[in-house]
Amino acid sequence: MATTDNQSESVVHILTETRRYPPPQGFAEQANLRDPGVYERAREDPETFWASVAEELHWDQPWDRVMNWTPPTVEWFTGGKLNASYNCVDRHLDGAQRTKPAIVWEGEPPGEERTLTYEDLYREVNRAALMLRSLGVEKGDRVSIYLPMVPELPIAMLACARIGATHSVVFGGFSPDSLADRINDGEAKVLITADGGYRRGKVVPLKENADKALEKTPSVRKVVTVERLGRDKYPVNMLENRDIWWHEAMASVTESECPPEPLDAEHPLYTLYTSGTTGKPKGLLHTTGGYLVGTYLTTKWVFDLKEDDIYWCTADIGWVTGHSYVVYGPLANGATTVMYEGTPDYPDKDRFWDIVERRKVSVLYTAPTAIRGFMGWGAEYADKHDLSSLRLLGSVGEPINPEAWVWYHEHIGRERCPIVDTWWQTETGMILISPLPGLTTTKPGSATIPLPGIEPDIVDDHGNSVGVGQDGYLVLKRPWPSIARSIWGDPERYVAQYFSKYGPEVYVTGDGARRDEEGYYWLMGRVDDVLNVAGHRLGTMELESALVSHEAVAEAAVIGIPHSVKGQGIAAFCRLRSGIEPRDDLRQQLREHVAKKVGSIARPDNVYLVAELPKTRSAKIMRRLLRDIAEGKVVGDTTTLTDPAVLEDIKRNYGGAEATE
Ligand code: WTA
Repeated sequence: MATTDNQSESVVHILTETRRYPPPQGFAEQANLRDPGVYERAREDPETFWASVAEELHWDQPWDRVMNWTPPTVEWFTGGKLNASYNCVDRHLDGAQRTKPAIVWEGEPPGEERTLTYEDLYREVNRAALMLRSLGVEKGDRVSIYLPMVPELPIAMLACARIGATHSVVFGGFSPDSLADRINDGEAKVLITADGGYRRGKVVPLKENADKALEKTPSVRKVVTVERLGRDKYPVNMLENRDIWWHEAMASVTESECPPEPLDAEHPLYTLYTSGTTGKPKGLLHTTGGYLVGTYLTTKWVFDLKEDDIYWCTADIGWVTGHSYVVYGPLANGATTVMYEGTPDYPDKDRFWDIVERRKVSVLYTAPTAIRGFMGWGAEYADKHDLSSLRLLGSVGEPINPEAWVWYHEHIGRERCPIVDTWWQTETGMILISPLPGLTTTKPGSATIPLPGIEPDIVDDHGNSVGVGQDGYLVLKRPWPSIARSIWGDPERYVAQYFSKYGPEVYVTGDGARRDEEGYYWLMGRVDDVLNVAGHRLGTMELESALVSHEAVAEAAVIGIPHSVKGQGIAAFCRLRSGIEPRDDLRQQLREHVAKKVGSIARPDNVYLVAELPKTRSAKIMRRLLRDIAEGKVVGDTTTLTDPAVLEDIKRNYGGAEATE
């Protein structure tokens, strides 16, 4: 397999020069999981293994079959009934956990904070569930949620889960168009939003965005708005008969208990949209039983969760990491989960370390992009703070370069904390490849080995396993409980996308990987047309359609380029319509246009205006060549170009990387 456009080359040297980090003294002895025999047992009898995990949760009705696999379709815990909100809330009301903080929230403006104990969470979730019912939401309906990182977000999710409604959380950074597409795809009956949120000291006008989206979402009957900013300072439009305030609707609920609906293990818990290789984002569907079992176990083992841990996953709940490891996993374990609304640099670049110190965070789970950002700012921001409460660090979302790993280990973990580099995807629902911190010797840059019960492989184009150190495609050869069951409304696309390349039994991840002589996995990035920008997935097609929707653009090609902080940046090559002059301000306009169409995470770093896009004789855009140009590299063999002059022209006018920021 050749390296593709999107792969990071920073990990290429990794197999040769690796330092090893065994579990720190004292850590291994006290870890939740100390028995390496678990790998073997899970391999020999995965169903018994998963059943024993599932037994730790509360079931209203036991399952008849652990796994029912007719490839590519799989069901887990068939016949069983349970409720996710019961398992995340009610289950912890006995004894001391009742008054334990479930959610510790910090707003971006310093000093704004809220703590909800399990008891508080129970009260709020019940009330919110009753409120949703009073708005006509029934089991099986979809509810869209477009909120900032405020406690009402997990409350709304759990309220949906309580009554069997399927939630669809849309990241607050998405544009009105993206929100409308996602609402329409799921035909949501109700939208839950807020007047706004804070981000880097600025207001994000969520209700205003939602209002724009709502112009084209006929399915939405009611809009519930959380008052986050305050009506006096930031008035919003409230449409009569459609729009209500969250606090007023909650106050009008007269009962206090909403018994949890016993739901089939395969009842749809949520959909979450993610970018794929075609233009339209797809709604991955996760179901109740398997998802909860998977997130419960991985939170407990990978983060070695203990009763008194203060656990903080910094991801936004708008992404899968937030679903699984801010909400469902930690709450299913009865943990204290920290939620922070804003950015790491507000009011200053030590905000994370300020939170860690004040809250005595013991487990921190964040993204390589954030770590590289901290590295760039310098260790002094962390050094100002007492980080001695930390005992375990996690990384997720993109390959972590060894330099960032070592920096994280030294400056944040102060060489005491194991690091778990966790590989997984929106589709997998839970972490699949990761160290277990009491057992695994780690190597910076490697997500190490598959978790018990997980069976990956690295294969070539024909599906044959590749040898040690060889590049190949990462696949998974048997199902795990929290695999996404389908793409909402498009089951064929699900099969075509994930289970067609090597037959219905083999799940194709879209990632490239290598395995070293000890069986450690080294993730090399996407091998398809998906970019990973600051840990966010973006489809090149999605960005290209946004560009050509601008009146000046006739044709566009988008590629990923290496970026020292974000991992990948976005370079867009645009051919303009005839008669349109390539001006500098147009490049800026196009950047803003994409941000407006998709969301600000999608704003291209560089826009190149070209006379022609380089194509092969079969009219395929030569992305590899564009990448070389964007990186200012010497351009290689161009004999397959229809018109080499095009390239000369591109090189002459746009050769070399340029920053527009
Ligand atoms: C990438 C985020 C290397 C990968 C949980 C995957 C990683 C995509 C890692 C999924 C990691 C995630 N090392 N690459 N530890 N974790 N990825 O759906 O390319 O937003 O396919 O899920 O992120 O992104 P998604």
